[in-house]
Amino acid sequence: MPGRDFLQVPGPTNIPGRVLRAMDRPAVDHRGPEFIALTHRVLPKLREVFRTERGAPVIFMGSGTAGLEAALVNTLSPGDRVLAFGIGHFSHLFARIATRLGCEVELSGLPWGSVIPPDLVYDRLSADREPRYKAVLAIHNETSTGVTCDIPAIREAMDRAGHPALLLVDTISGLGSIDFRFDEWGVDVAVAGSQKGLLLPPGLTILAVSDRALRAGEAARLPRHFFDWAPVIEFNRKGFFPFTPATLLLFGLDEALDLLQEEGLEQVYARHALLGEGVRRAVEAWSLPLVAQERATASDVVTGIRLPEGHDAARVPELSAERYGLSLGVGIGPLQGKAFRIGHLGSLNELEVLAVLGGVEMTLATLGVPVPIGEGVTACQHWFLSRSAPVAG
Ligand SMILES: Cc1ncc(COP(=O)(O)O)c(C=O)c1O
Repeated sequence: MPGRDFLQVPGPTNIPGRVLRAMDRPAVDHRGPEFIALTHRVLPKLREVFRTERGAPVIFMGSGTAGLEAALVNTLSPGDRVLAFGIGHFSHLFARIATRLGCEVELSGLPWGSVIPPDLVYDRLSADREPRYKAVLAIHNETSTGVTCDIPAIREAMDRAGHPALLLVDTISGLGSIDFRFDEWGVDVAVAGSQKGLLLPPGLTILAVSDRALRAGEAARLPRHFFDWAPVIEFNRKGFFPFTPATLLLFGLDEALDLLQEEGLEQVYARHALLGEGVRRAVEAWSLPLVAQERATASDVVTGIRLPEGHDAARVPELSAERYGLSLGVGIGPLQGKAFRIGHLGSLNELEVLAVLGGVEMTLATLGVPVPIGEGVTACQHWFLSRSAPVAG
């Protein structure tokens, strides 16, 4: 198909040309001076995107799932009790990994589309007098439903309960797109992935680790070798890794972090808020319900949209890809066939979002879903115009 494809799944996201070009280079010696300089450049820039001065950034090769496993094996021991909240596919995944690693997971299963209620965190922790829970597993942005949890409120609930558990946060689809503050929010381990807000291909998972988590790591007995963060932090001091790192991805990361810095993190968040709201206004113009139970908790990086009974939502991404080269997210788990998702994160602008909404409208109409053609796009245009600066004269 001529023209560009529209990759609007909620990760992997579009890779900016500058990032592609930064990776288009000969391989380097991963112990040579150029690579050492690269490591020393990238780590401080990662601190900025995590908004941390005291947290240690740790890079592993692997997808986000590997990062979740790394967060657990470095902080916990077999039989440790952890508290988890299932609000969608990925929060359940975090809990499942902990279970398979041999932790005792107490999982509160909540409706898909809801957020983690801070009061429930408080209730569970304040009832734990001993205290037995070693960690709280939280998700920042639940990609399968399209909601964003209030991590500072969860931290506040933990503090109010006076509970010493570590706060482990999956921000795989949040970091680099929506507000995340490692230090200010008192996060102990944050897990990110390269293929979302960090504008890279899949392949890296990046953690930020607090001093408390590092200390917990010294006593933690879950088996680990590749995912042991201590040797990574040790080797990184000299600019190396204890294994052969994905050198070219790291050149891409260096450039991607520059792009985020040049735009400014606050502006990056504001852009995602603008685009996310534009998509929500379109969905409302179509009179389709969001998967998010409450509008205020709907995510600025991904929108989950339910279809009326009798329509197979799995057909939407199939047809949009086939007809228009537009990749949309499918409904996962209980949302399979009931909902589809539009990813609106990473390197993305207003006109691209309008094109995507136009493609979704045509796809829905072709499938016989009763949407008023043009009204979603129009609602989004009005929103963008209402937020754009007037032109003098
Ligand atoms: C919030 C969240 N957690 C975990 C994962 C799993 O990451 P990966 O597929 O990179 O292993 C994803 C992937 O989309 C995600 O969005």
